[in-house]
Amino acid sequence: MKYVIGIDLGTSGTKTVLFDEAGKILASALEEYPMYQPQNGWAEQNPEDWKNAAINTIRAVTEKSGVAKEDIVGLGISGQMHGLVMLDEAGEVIRNSIIWCDQRTAAECEEIEALVGRERLIEITANPALTGFTASKIMWVKNHEPENFAKCAHILLPKDYVRFVLTGEYATEVSDASGMQLLDVAGRCWSDEVLEKLGIDKNMLGKVYESPEITGYITEEAAALTGLATTTAVVGGAGDNAAAAIGTGTVKDGDAFTTIGTSGVVFAHTKEMVFDKGGRVHTFCCAVPGEWHVMGVTQGAGLSLKWYRDNFCGDIIESAKKEGKSPYAVMDKMAEDAGISARKLLFLPYLMGERTPHLDPNARGAFFGLSAIHDRGDMIRAIMEGVSYSLEDCLSVLNEMGVKPEKMLACGGGGTSALWRSMLADIYGMDVSTVDSKEAPALGVAILAMVGTGIYASVPEACEKILKIKTTTAPVAENTEKYKKVYAVYKALYPHLKADYESLASL
Ligand code: XUL
Repeated sequence: MKYVIGIDLGTSGTKTVLFDEAGKILASALEEYPMYQPQNGWAEQNPEDWKNAAINTIRAVTEKSGVAKEDIVGLGISGQMHGLVMLDEAGEVIRNSIIWCDQRTAAECEEIEALVGRERLIEITANPALTGFTASKIMWVKNHEPENFAKCAHILLPKDYVRFVLTGEYATEVSDASGMQLLDVAGRCWSDEVLEKLGIDKNMLGKVYESPEITGYITEEAAALTGLATTTAVVGGAGDNAAAAIGTGTVKDGDAFTTIGTSGVVFAHTKEMVFDKGGRVHTFCCAVPGEWHVMGVTQGAGLSLKWYRDNFCGDIIESAKKEGKSPYAVMDKMAEDAGISARKLLFLPYLMGERTPHLDPNARGAFFGLSAIHDRGDMIRAIMEGVSYSLEDCLSVLNEMGVKPEKMLACGGGGTSALWRSMLADIYGMDVSTVDSKEAPALGVAILAMVGTGIYASVPEACEKILKIKTTTAPVAENTEKYKKVYAVYKALYPHLKADYESLASL
């Protein structure tokens, strides 16, 4: 039997899972780390935390499982996308990583569109300049910290930094590189034109691979730290969403999934490349070689519920801990009791600005319709519904583009909630299923490692053999009607508030 490791480098922590070649989990380990918000709308993490979490969790799973290290043939890494890691000539980290949800780069986005031309930028990178993407973060460092930019010899994405720690290679792969806004997304290679116009040296960027390709092997040093053998191959891996696609079997036209993690995503596979002229959803290369995907993003999905839990549910956290339960299970029950529309309370989940469909870094969260009858159960319900409406916004844009999913999977922490899945099924008006594994991104990159090391011939073949549908939630027509009415009010709120968000931002 051969074994592979999948590492899921997320925003709240890194989870490493050891699988056998049939996709069965043998051991898993998680290490959490903080996100820093030095100013409103800024978000940073320390790449050293990612490095330590990867090393510690790999060591934990190799020790726990008792599997012989020579039998672990491959390793794949899934990563939170877009984060900027800058290394000096010696491979040392220069500054904290500015991560995906950081919103400080509105001025740099204007600069990028002025330098490249908005239409040309969309033609090449398939997306307009976005505050979340890496290019604007690089330009911010160039503009505000020229001393750090001058020291920078290598630019990597979060998971590609961990690859560098494990293999010594400066490399990336097409799915994550698509979110840097420096890739020619149709050609699946760096865009000389964009790099030249932005004044970024191509030599700073890693070599681009397809996701299942082998990018290197574990170094002696990393082997000593992790307990792995130097024969373990590290494949390209994928950005977290492209990885979750593989881990849920979203690998052909008609397939889609919704993830509710820190961010929320509605992701649909497309064999041919399609993009939205308004740039409201992203078009990226996917982890199936030669194919693409489109996805809409809700910036603050699980993040919104976590924010509410951490600030207003201290007692629930305490009591749940005593009873050995997850506080989210208790909150779920409170939301269920509140009932559809939470007694006419709505929530806009724009705690970190918003991407789809508004592309507005100034947008902020709001409860609308608060009255003296409301309690925490209503507020939790309103948050879960608000996130679901925002995901419906994403799905509507995909539909407008002619991308009409026939199959919808749910994953991520929020996807484990039966209540949240039923909301999605009712609001989308379609079945929402789960697969027989909770670790979609880790399993996704483990599957890529199985393909890269020859255990399976192709990604779709591996998915076909490994993944099974576990649950299916069907929409309830009566609920769909109720949600439709509330969604109409939700949809009207952002246009009413847009100018006020601008005024607030200019204070
Ligand atoms: C996708 C995105 C997020 C991050 C964090 O564009 O920004 O999904 O990858 O998980």
